[in-house]
Amino acid sequence: MKTNRWKSKMWFIAMLLTVALTSCNSTVTEQTPTLKDAYQGMFVIGTALNKGHNYGTDTLGINLIKQHFNSIVAENCMKSMHIQPTEGVFFFDEADKFVEFGEANNMNIIGHTLIWHSQAPDWFFVDEDGADVTREVMIERMRNHIHTVVGRYKGRVDGWDVVNEAFMDDGSWRNTKFYEIIGGEYIKLAFQFANEADPDAELYYNDYAMSAEGKRNGVVELVKQLQAAGVRVDGIGMQGHMGMDYPDISEFEKSIKAFAALDVNVMITEMDITLLPFPGDETAEVSLSAEYQEKMNPYAAGLPDNINAAWEQRYIDYFQLFLNYSDNISRVTLWGLTDADTWRNNWPIEGRTDYPLLFGRDYQAKPVVEKLIELTNNNE
Ligand code: XIL
Repeated sequence: MKTNRWKSKMWFIAMLLTVALTSCNSTVTEQTPTLKDAYQGMFVIGTALNKGHNYGTDTLGINLIKQHFNSIVAENCMKSMHIQPTEGVFFFDEADKFVEFGEANNMNIIGHTLIWHSQAPDWFFVDEDGADVTREVMIERMRNHIHTVVGRYKGRVDGWDVVNEAFMDDGSWRNTKFYEIIGGEYIKLAFQFANEADPDAELYYNDYAMSAEGKRNGVVELVKQLQAAGVRVDGIGMQGHMGMDYPDISEFEKSIKAFAALDVNVMITEMDITLLPFPGDETAEVSLSAEYQEKMNPYAAGLPDNINAAWEQRYIDYFQLFLNYSDNISRVTLWGLTDADTWRNNWPIEGRTDYPLLFGRDYQAKPVVEKLIELTNNNE
């Protein structure tokens, strides 16, 4: 008796689940045209794939990615701390899945990132006693890392962020271990190693705050020097982590122009528009207060319509700018798919509720997606 009751209960729950899942699936509205179709011939539209995408557990997410995007970038799995956590021990499993997904869906596949001071394993820079390695050892480690990673995906990954975030906003060198131990030549070496490992993959320099005049000039100077030295650089990635007040759109445009004048592709590589305030230099005491936490996380219960409208307009303004420069811009990539996935929920403060991406927590395209699609009608 007990078993039968249990069985019928299970059956009822299974029914409910099926109905819920079916209706959930069918409410992920299919849009025509989708983002990638609308922007066909102007630039590819990309998104960053996380673990749930790479391993196929986020099935709703994967469906959306296939519908709307024709370019993918690895959000984390190709960073050095993930792909070579211990010297000589490579973990390729997730990156392999990422590349296979892109190939199976005929997408433009971007590797991110070979040389970056952040999310790099500690061993990379030190010897067994914990002291900085010599210049020669550092160069050898760079060579080996780049040759192994790029070599594995030779002919399969279309483009690599070879060096990420080498400059400060004023254009001076960021004082990373790569810079400290090797000197500025590390960038040239990184591009040379990547070129050796896959002469057909595109090679990019990628950075944030690229609208800042100092950084703009620094990057222009770098690329000119590399070009003069005969080192191949195919593109410049402007990350595009934006807020409501920054960057200034006309400064961003100046950077697009300056980079395009170098005869390289310009890419918007990590776009998101945060709605959350950036912390100042509050004392620990203030930052723990409930009042402060509420001020820093103002939309935890939902987004007011007027804020959303201003946010939509900012996306539209930026995409209009990208369309104006579609001869120079080859790719626009969003840094993630849904607001549930975004790194912005946890940076620079953990556990907030942000809304920086084009798809909601419910996997629905936000109304702005339709508007970005419509924008292309005026551009034909
Ligand atoms: C972020 C990822 O989105 C997070 O999941 C991770 O915890 C930290 O890194 N600039 C970059 C990206 O080039 O690699 C960063 O990605 C965001 C800033």
